[in-house]
Amino acid sequence: MKTLIINGSPKIKNSNSEALVNKLNHYLNTDTIQINIKNYKENIDLSNYNTIIFVFPLYVDGIPSHLLEALTNLNINESTNIYAIVNCGFPESAHTKQGLDLIRNYSIHRNLNYKGGLGIGGCGGLNGMNKNKLLKFTSKSIDKNIEELSEFILNNDPYDNTYITTNIPNSIYRYIGNLSWKKDLDKIDS
Ligand SMILES: Cc1cc2nc3c(=O)[nH]c(=O)nc-3n(C[C@H](O)[C@H](O)[C@H](O)COP(=O)(O)O)c2cc1C
Repeated sequence: MKTLIINGSPKIKNSNSEALVNKLNHYLNTDTIQINIKNYKENIDLSNYNTIIFVFPLYVDGIPSHLLEALTNLNINESTNIYAIVNCGFPESAHTKQGLDLIRNYSIHRNLNYKGGLGIGGCGGLNGMNKNKLLKFTSKSIDKNIEELSEFILNNDPYDNTYITTNIPNSIYRYIGNLSWKKDLDKIDS
């Protein structure tokens, strides 16, 4: 049995999906690839894998367009087990249901075996926070659920779609988010 984790963030490095891939691979210790803005048009052969986990951000309530295009070209064997981890910027993880549903529908369309996944809200800045020891507590629920999901993946078991949010109080998350938007806007203005 071979397992592959796909990072579907368009960012080349330091994406929040990258932080999630690293957490997952701590348990799975398996192959990983990135489908990003550089390679999404390539024909990628994944026929060696029996299990594939898509880890990607929610963009406009959907799959980022580069990943969507890549999905149509991927060579995946029928009946491959598919899991997904979708992260989003809004603190309410319910937004990620769209992303998980799209991967489930893609699996049905391609005769793949969708086995479930995790939808995670409040992931803006996750990669940075994970590099700061004092802020590690913010991903406590993510760590717990990724460990749980890993066990299901290792046993090839179906996993009920599960929705969680980072452990940051909503008001603080929104406050920091607003500061960061404004800082980015200042950069554009200057
Ligand atoms: C173009 C764009 C569209 C986005 N759309 C949504 C959205 O619909 N809902 C949401 O909660 N977050 C949205 N976000 C926020 C991202 O999902 C969030 O920042 C995510 O953590 C980025 O993950 P990454 O670093 O792995 O790329 C969007 C971000 C961008 C750049």
